[in-house]
This record gives sequence, structure tokens and C-alpha cells, in this order.
Amino acid sequence: MPELSVKFAQSGNVTSSVTNDENEARDFEKFLGRPRTMNTDVRQKSLDERSLSEFTHVISSQEDRPENNLCAGCQSVIDTPSINITPGTHAVLESPLVGEAWDALKRSLVYLRGKPVGTIAALDNSEEKCNYDQVFVRDFVPSALAFLMNGEPEIVRNFLLKTLRLQSGEKKIDKFKLAEGVMPASFKVHHDPVRNHETLIADFGESAIGRVAPVDSGFWWIILLRAYTRSTGDTSLADLPDCQKGMRLILSLCLSEGFDTFPTLLCADGCCMIDRRMGVYGYPLEIQALFFMALRCAKLLLKEDNEGKEFIEKIVKRLRALSYHMRSYYWMDFKQLNDIYRYKTEEYSHTAVNKFNVMPDSLPEWVFDFMPNRGGYFIGNVGPAKMDIRWFCLGNCIAILSSLATAEQSTAIMDLIEARWKELVGEMPLKVCYPAIESHDWRIITGCDPKNTRWSYHNGGSWPVLLWLLTAACLKAGRRQMAKNAIELAEARLSKDNWPEYYDGKAGRFVGKQARKCQTWSIAGYLVAKMMVEDPTHLGMIALEEEKEMKPVMRRSASWTL
Ligand code: GLC
Repeated sequence: MPELSVKFAQSGNVTSSVTNDENEARDFEKFLGRPRTMNTDVRQKSLDERSLSEFTHVISSQEDRPENNLCAGCQSVIDTPSINITPGTHAVLESPLVGEAWDALKRSLVYLRGKPVGTIAALDNSEEKCNYDQVFVRDFVPSALAFLMNGEPEIVRNFLLKTLRLQSGEKKIDKFKLAEGVMPASFKVHHDPVRNHETLIADFGESAIGRVAPVDSGFWWIILLRAYTRSTGDTSLADLPDCQKGMRLILSLCLSEGFDTFPTLLCADGCCMIDRRMGVYGYPLEIQALFFMALRCAKLLLKEDNEGKEFIEKIVKRLRALSYHMRSYYWMDFKQLNDIYRYKTEEYSHTAVNKFNVMPDSLPEWVFDFMPNRGGYFIGNVGPAKMDIRWFCLGNCIAILSSLATAEQSTAIMDLIEARWKELVGEMPLKVCYPAIESHDWRIITGCDPKNTRWSYHNGGSWPVLLWLLTAACLKAGRRQMAKNAIELAEARLSKDNWPEYYDGKAGRFVGKQARKCQTWSIAGYLVAKMMVEDPTHLGMIALEEEKEMKPVMRRSASWTL
């Protein structure tokens, strides 16, 4: 690759964000000192009582207030229970778009015997329903966060308890019995007209494309239980013996000992948000980041009783090994890329540098253009002789939120998103992964999947739901303005296009070929992003500070020193 050094030089896109960050960090100190009061009126109103005036939001007169900026790693925000801003302290604006989104979110509610238990995936009657008429565990997360932020925890509590009941039922695919701890991908309400009775029917992967059990569902369930506990201050739900058992069952699925030589979790393709064959198997970042976050949440929620203690000990050991493994082997930046480019292969001993025997020739051409001089990211997958160097949105954002990424790595991830804004955010936040796989690779990796053609759906498509994750990650890393820019882009199109599930094309300009309209997590994701950027104390629900004992002994890396 003779023109390599030229490419490196060209890809350098150094931004001035360090100065901004420093300002934001300083400014944030003031924010921490400010007393806040709870608006209990808003919190206590039920869903049905909500009027448009409650959809009011603080406008950008806050913008000029330095105290509304966040810094990276601000323990106090993450430790402060989220609260509604007291009316009167800020100028308030009624946003029609926010009101429209709340109305749509309300319409998506699914009831079981009169109680709301979740939200339907999409309310689109123009397309074949497939399974979009079900409540998906992962899809419900942004809905749940929106309700929690709005002071309406009941639906979240109902959802957590109902899914727990589904977990405890027997699950079979063909004649094979699934493990006890598996959480469903989705469920729907079945109405028996004869008995006039409603029951829940769950799908654990037996009717999903590819018949894969959703590894992410259990992790999201634990993460949501912690968000609920954090937001309400009510520990009684997590303390219930059933909830404690539910957590232990999920954990025993992923903490059991076996043939593993890595602390990462071995998974089948299609077991997460990307639920079709996309080469996301083995040790995909998308699962490892959620695994890490769920372990950290479970550690906070598990009781140290006879049964819990053993799990807590296992969690502590696993977290340490997992963070070391991920931070060392999944991290990619200019320096790391250059090191891999010069790797020797066939190293057998303990002193091997190229531990997984990755062939430098397997590095794809695009990464040399993509990698900025400043910035970095966790790559998609690492295994024997394997590095999937694609950038994945969810994994990188969850890495920031869970503090799997160190503060320096979080900054570097943000620097990279900023430097590659056109590619990753484009006209609609945000690419699920980058870049798309094409031609021969597409044939081999997706099995010629016509829904996952290049720059569409899971294959480099843009998913508005990811906006909430980006916003949360930006706030944690002290990049509030970046989040606001992304929200603005979404606001320009989302409602006009009727809240599509995903967008197609290199810049995310086109409504996805098979995208459902009125997709609930696009709606809820927008609301969560909006509420969080306006009241960053909400971040505490979904972000965790770095634990001292996990502070890394890390190599210095180009993205942190430039
Ligand atoms: C698609 C998505 C999946 C989502 C489901 C319901 O299958 O790939 O992530 O949960 O739709 O919206």
C-alpha cells in the first residue's frame, strides 16, 4: 500500500473540541452546585391526564447559561436522581413536535387487562404487520426512559414484571428446550373471546428470522430495572425475590464456565438489534458492551444475601477481565491501526504482540481513509485471526455510558464522530454501522439478504432510534452541542416522514425501502434525546461512572496525546 502515508495525512481532521470540552468541563462545575427542586405535580399526573401543556420544554435561553453544559465523567450528575425542572426558573416553550411525539407514543401503548404493559413496535397499517405489532423488549427501552423522565414509572414497572413472568415459563424451539434465564425478544397480548380473557404470548426467537434467541433482551431488562430504580428511588421492585431470581438466571447464562479463553460472550449472528445475518457473531461489540453494562447494573441491584453474593463475586472478576480485554483488543485509533498494519504473524509464545494472529492484509482499505489522526473507536469484533473493523453505533455509545470506555477513550470516540460526521450522522442520525458491506462480501456475509443491501437497514442504514444513545453519550462526554446538532437534523425530517424506522443511503437521505412508519422507538428515541439534552440530570438513569478498581493500566495512544 504505497499511498498509505498520504491517506493518513489526508484523513487528519483535527477539531477544536478540546478547548470546547475544557470550557464545558469548567462550566459544568457551576451546574453541580445549583440547588434543584422536584416538580411533584408533573410527576404525579397519570398518562391519561396529560395535556399538551405538560409537553412543554425548556427553550434555549438555557443555551447561554454555562451551568447547563456537562463535562466528561461528572460523577455528581450521574448520582443525582433525575428531576423535572421547576417551572419558573426557565423559559418554557410548547413544542408542537414534542407534543405530536407524545401523542404518538401514547397511541402505541399496549394494555393487558386494562393495564399498560409496553408499546407496540410500529403502528403502521399500510405495511404487512410481520411482528411489528408486538412489544419488543429492546424497542421498549426508549419508551420506558421517556415515561420515567416524564414521571410515569407505572408502565415500566408493569413491563418489568410481565416480562419476568414470561422468563419463568417453559420455552421450546422445535423439540429443544431453552435455558430458564432467556428473556423474550417480544410479546403480544392474546385475547381469548370465548373466555373473554387476555394472556401474553412471547417470542424467544422461535418465530424470529433466523430463529435466534435475543441475547440483548436479558441485558436490557437488567439495565431498565436499574433505570427504574434510579429514577424513582424505589428499590422495592428490584428487591423482590422474583426480580433477584430473574437477574440471577440471566447472569448464570453468561457467567457459567466453559471452553472460553476470552471474557467476552460468544454469540450467534442476529441476537441483538441487528437481528439478521450481518456477520455480527462470535464476540460482537454490540453484545459485549451491553453485557458489561448489565453486569455493572446487576452489581448495583443484587442483594448480598447467600444467593446473590456468589454472583456479585463472579461479576467483579468478570468486569475486570472484560474491561481489560475490550480496552486492549477492541480499541482502534491511528496509532493502533499503524501498529496492526505492521504486525508480524505466526507468533506462538506469551510475548506475542499479535495475540490473535490477525493478518494485516485483512485490514480493509476504507479504514485508512476513515481513521482520523485524532479519535478512535471500539471495533466491531475480535476473535482468532479476526478483526471486524466496522464502526458500530450502539456498542460505542453503550461503552461510553457504562464507562467501559475510559474517559480518554470516550473523548476519542466523540472526536471520531465529529471528524466523520458526514459519514456517521449525515442527514439523519445515525448509522447503525459503518461502512456498508457490498458485492461479494454482501453475498458471503449476509447470505444475499435483499433487505440488507448496501446502505440500507442493518447494513449501513440510519436509525433515528440511535439518537437517544448518541445524545446520552454526548452528554456524558461533555459534547452537548454535538447532541443538539444531531437532534436538529432529526427534527427537520422525522415528523414530515412520519417517524420512519430507518433511512437508506450513504448520507441517510432516503426513507428506508421497507421502513415501517410510526415506528415507536424512533418516536420515543427522539423524546428521550430531547428531554435529556434539556435536563441532563436524566442521564443518571442510563449512565454509570467509572469504578476506581477498573481504572486501566493503559498504553498511551495517539488519540489521547495529540
Ligand atoms: C427489526 C429490528 C429489530 C427491532 C424490530 C422491531 O427486526 O431489526 O432491532 O427490535 O424490528 O422494531
